[in-house]
Amino acid sequence: MFRLDGKAALVTGAGSGIGREIALLFAAQGAVVALGDVDEAAAGRVAAEIAEAGGEGYPVALDVTDRLSAKAAVATIVERQGRLDVLVNNAGIGMVGNLLETEPEDFRRLMAVNVDGVYHCSQAAVAQMVAQEPQGGAIVNIASIAGMVAVARRFAYGTTKGAVISITQSTAMDFVDRGVRCNCICPGTVETPFVEGYLRRYHAGEVEETRQALHARQPLGRMGRPEEIAPLALYLASEEAAYVTGAQMVIDGGLTAR
Ligand SMILES: NC(=O)c1ccc[n+]([C@@H]2O[C@H](COP(=O)([O-])OP(=O)(O)OC[C@H]3O[C@@H](n4cnc5c(N)ncnc54)[C@H](O)[C@@H]3O)[C@@H](O)[C@H]2O)c1
Repeated sequence: MFRLDGKAALVTGAGSGIGREIALLFAAQGAVVALGDVDEAAAGRVAAEIAEAGGEGYPVALDVTDRLSAKAAVATIVERQGRLDVLVNNAGIGMVGNLLETEPEDFRRLMAVNVDGVYHCSQAAVAQMVAQEPQGGAIVNIASIAGMVAVARRFAYGTTKGAVISITQSTAMDFVDRGVRCNCICPGTVETPFVEGYLRRYHAGEVEETRQALHARQPLGRMGRPEEIAPLALYLASEEAAYVTGAQMVIDGGLTAR
């Protein structure tokens, strides 16, 4: 079940955290995984991990903020494998601040990576998915619960993730009859280098206390782990999810149920 044998997959932001875990799992389930990241060295390390485990993966140069870079990454995959079956739009960045605290350049930077990035990669991928035979493919967007409910002082971040949910729905509806499925995952807080960066940048001097508070925020009493997100991405990418499109799937330790 949930095999991806021979499928050509692109995972953006595959060099770290959730993207790395998704890439490792997809490769273990038989996909050939293109690892797209601005940090090419990190993508190379994940490719080596995949090879060590007996899977197939390779780094592709990708800056999701650059439309031509997204097109070139998809072209590279098609050159190697003849098609693109799965896109995981995972690359993303965060920042802390309410409406008054958010500077225009920070707002623009978040929009460029988290929203333009999903737009660029999805556009390049869907163009290929509708052109290939057999037609179709699966897109999995990594949104966030911050796009569904308000998280304190995540004005720009929540805005971008709300947009990702909306992109998911329109892509799903506009290509529902062309074999393209598009869904998103809305994680709560997940322990990754993303959270470590946040702790160092915004809570230096109180890292441990803040980490404990982040754990305690979830009814389940702890943050999530990347390996608890990757299996849902695998399901959504797989044939078993043939009837799932336009969905927002929450994995948040109960946070939004409270
Ligand atoms: N960690 C969390 O708590 C959490 C919660 C909800 C959603 N998310 C989302 O999950 C996704 C992954 O987060 P993570 O915690 O694994 O982050 P991370 O910082 O560990 O990894 C993100 C990766 O994206 C890459 N990246 C950044 N900008 C890029 C660009 N312009 N082009 C290509 N690659 C780029 C980075 O180099 C890095 O390898 C993000 O979209 C994030 O918003 C994370």
